[in-house]
Amino acid sequence: MPGSPTALLDELTLGRAVELESLVDRGALREMAESAHQLFGASLRIFSQAGGLLADASSQPRLYALLDQGQAGRTALSAVVSGVKSVEPEPEHPAEVGCVTGARYLVASISYDSHALGRLILGPYREPGAAPSGSLRELGLDMAQVPGAWAELPELSDQEAHRVVRHLSAVLDLILFSGHKALLTSNMHLASVQESYRELADKNAKLQHAFDRLKELDRLKSNFLGTVSHELRTPLTSIIGYSEMLREGIAGEISAEQKEFVQTIHAKGEQLLELIKGLLDLSKLESGTMSLRKSEIDVVPVVQDVAQTLAPAARKKGVEIRVVSETGLPTVWADAERVRQVLLNLSENALKFTPTEGSVTLTVRASMIERRADEDGRGLVLFSTKRPAIEIRVVDTGIGVPDGEKEKVFDAFYQVDGSATREHEGTGLGLSIVRRLVDAHDGTVRVEDNTPTGAVFVVTIPCRRTTIA
Ligand SMILES: Nc1ncnc2c1ncn2[C@@H]1O[C@H](COP(=O)(O)OP(=O)(O)OP(=O)(O)O)[C@@H](O)[C@H]1O
Ligand SMILES: [Mg+2]
Repeated sequence: MPGSPTALLDELTLGRAVELESLVDRGALREMAESAHQLFGASLRIFSQAGGLLADASSQPRLYALLDQGQAGRTALSAVVSGVKSVEPEPEHPAEVGCVTGARYLVASISYDSHALGRLILGPYREPGAAPSGSLRELGLDMAQVPGAWAELPELSDQEAHRVVRHLSAVLDLILFSGHKALLTSNMHLASVQESYRELADKNAKLQHAFDRLKELDRLKSNFLGTVSHELRTPLTSIIGYSEMLREGIAGEISAEQKEFVQTIHAKGEQLLELIKGLLDLSKLESGTMSLRKSEIDVVPVVQDVAQTLAPAARKKGVEIRVVSETGLPTVWADAERVRQVLLNLSENALKFTPTEGSVTLTVRASMIERRADEDGRGLVLFSTKRPAIEIRVVDTGIGVPDGEKEKVFDAFYQVDGSATREHEGTGLGLSIVRRLVDAHDGTVRVEDNTPTGAVFVVTIPCRRTTIA
C-alpha cells in the first residue's frame, strides 16, 4: 500500500526484505544478551525471523542435564524446544510458554516498523513459590536430586520476566533504529550511485549511437563525393579536349572573339577538373583507399621542383620564391608525388596570399618528430618516442593566418574569408588534402605563430624507422 510505513520501509530498503542481522551487528546483540543474562540470571536467546540463532547467552541448568540423561527425558526436552520455537507472539504481547519441568519461558517478537524480524526467548525460570512438575517422576528422573536442581533455576515472577523483556525490547528498538538509519543512509548512497551510473550509461549509449550514425553519414558522404567526382571527370575531359581543339583551329578557323570565349571555356574546364581531382583525393583519403607508393626519397629535389613549377607565376606576380636547405639531409619514407602535391598546395597558397614584392621561402632541415603510435586502441599512448624527420617550412610575407583560424583552415571547404566577394580564388579543399596526405605519412602539419607579416606552415615527415642512426 503506497504511503504506509511498510511501503516506505520497502522503498527505502530498495525493495529488499530487511533482516535483523542486516540491521544490527551480531556482536551488539551478543553483548546485550550477555549483560541481561548476568543481571537477571535467566538464559536469553535471540533468533532471526528465519530461525537462525543470532545471540545465545545461556548456561544449561542442572535440571535439564538430568532430563537429558534418559530417552524419555530427551524426547520431552526436544518437544519443549520445538514448542518454544514455534510460538508466534503478537508484537507487544510476549507469550508465556510452560515447560515439562514446571519452569517457564517468555517469548517476545522483535519487530521494526511493522516488520517481524525475529524472536527473543527468556528462560527457563521458575516463579517464586512454584514447585517442580510431578511428571518428572514419570520421565524417570532421580527425584532425590530434583529439589536441589529446581532451586538452581533462576527465580523470576511473571511480572519481572515481562519487565525484563520489555526493557530488552526497548534496548533492541534503539539498536534497530540506529542500525536502520545506517542501512538507509548507505542504501540511499548506493541508490544515488546506481542512478548516476544508469544516467551515465544511458548518455554513453546515446553518444555512441550518435557517433556511429555520424561515422556512417561521413562514409556515405565520402562515397557520394567519390562517385560524383568520378562521373563528372569523364564528360569534363571531353569538354576540355574539344575546347582545346576548337582553340587550335582543328575544326576550322574561328574569330578572335570566338577564340577568347573558347579560351575561357578551356580555362574554367581546367579549373573544374582540378576541383574534381581534389574531391576525389579527399574521398579516397577519407575512406582510406588511397594507395601511396612509398620509397626512400630525398626531399630537397622535390622542394626545388615545386619552386621551379611556381617560378613563372611568382615572377608574374612580382613575388620572389626561394629554397633554403641544409646539406647531408637524411631521406624520408614517402610517396614523392604526394609530397610534391603537399608542398605545391602550401606554396600555391603562400603565393596566392602574398602581395607583389613579397617573398615565399621554402626551408628544408633535419628535425625530430614526436610519435604518438603504439596506442592501445582506446587512445592511451603507452609510450611516445622521438624519431628523426625532415621539416619543410613554407614561409611567406602575405596576409597571414589569424590566431583563431590556425586549426580551422585545415577543414574541408573552410576559408578565412568565406564571402562571395572574396578576393582570392579557390574552394578551400587544398589544406584538408594536405593534412590527410601528411597524416598518411605519419607526419604533422601546422600553422606556426605567424611572423610579423605572413604565414608559416610547417610540415614534418618522419624518416624510415630502420634508418634511425
Ligand atoms: N599562406 C597563407 N596565408 C594566409 N592565409 C592562408 C594561407 N594558406 C591558407 N590560408 C587560408 O586558409 C584557407 C584554406 O586554404 P586551402 O588551401 O584549403 O583553400 P584555398 O586555397 O582557399 O582553396 P583551394 O586550395 O581549394 O584552391 C584559405 O582560403 C585562406 O583563408
Ligand atoms: Mg589552397
